[in-house]
Amino acid sequence: MESLPVNYSRMTQTRLVLPPDTNHLDTIFGGKVLAYIDEIAALTAMKHSSCVVVTASIDSVDFLSSAKVGDALTLEASVTRSGRTSMEVYVKVYADDLLKGRKVMTTESFLTMVAVDADGKPKTVPGIIPETDEEKRLYETAASRKEHRQNRSRLR
Ligand SMILES: CC(C)(COP(=O)(O)OP(=O)(O)OC[C@H]1O[C@@H](n2cnc3c(N)ncnc32)[C@H](O)[C@@H]1OP(=O)(O)O)[C@@H](O)C(=O)NCCC(=O)NCCS
Repeated sequence: MESLPVNYSRMTQTRLVLPPDTNHLDTIFGGKVLAYIDEIAALTAMKHSSCVVVTASIDSVDFLSSAKVGDALTLEASVTRSGRTSMEVYVKVYADDLLKGRKVMTTESFLTMVAVDADGKPKTVPGIIPETDEEKRLYETAASRKEHRQNRSRLR
């Protein structure tokens, strides 16, 4: 199966933060951001693999700062590395105050998506070709994140 460049499946989504998405401080619920992250990670992995995918794990979600009502929330997702059937996806989330012209990173997350067939059995996916410095760094560090993930699941 032919490997694909990271850029082939990179996805970006922008959403407006609205009052129903927020808490009494007018900042967005973490769970809402998590749902957006899961969705864009799935879309990215589907594009890379041309398969249906499921979320196998969400390693980490770091909320670095909040987004408030009226901000534009932009999510960027890319596959960092693929295994036989799994893909690690890195998602960054930015809050953009369009009136003040101030953009900050609010959240970053690593997820593992697995391509599956109609019976839910894992399916082989293409390899990934990192091109930029950031893509190469994320590709190289993916192995240690995978090892950490596997050690964590062995504790169960
Ligand atoms: C993810 C799933 C398909 C894996 O199936 P499985 O029978 O364990 O398959 P395997 O052991 O062959 O693993 C397949 C791949 O998934 C990876 N994987 C399995 N469990 C994982 C986990 N918890 N975290 C990260 N990767 C995982 C394996 O490392 C393997 O990757 P590789 O092929 O690239 O080496 C299965 O556990 C599943 O369907 N889980 C539920 C998914 C779901 O419903 N998600 C929505 C949550 S609400």
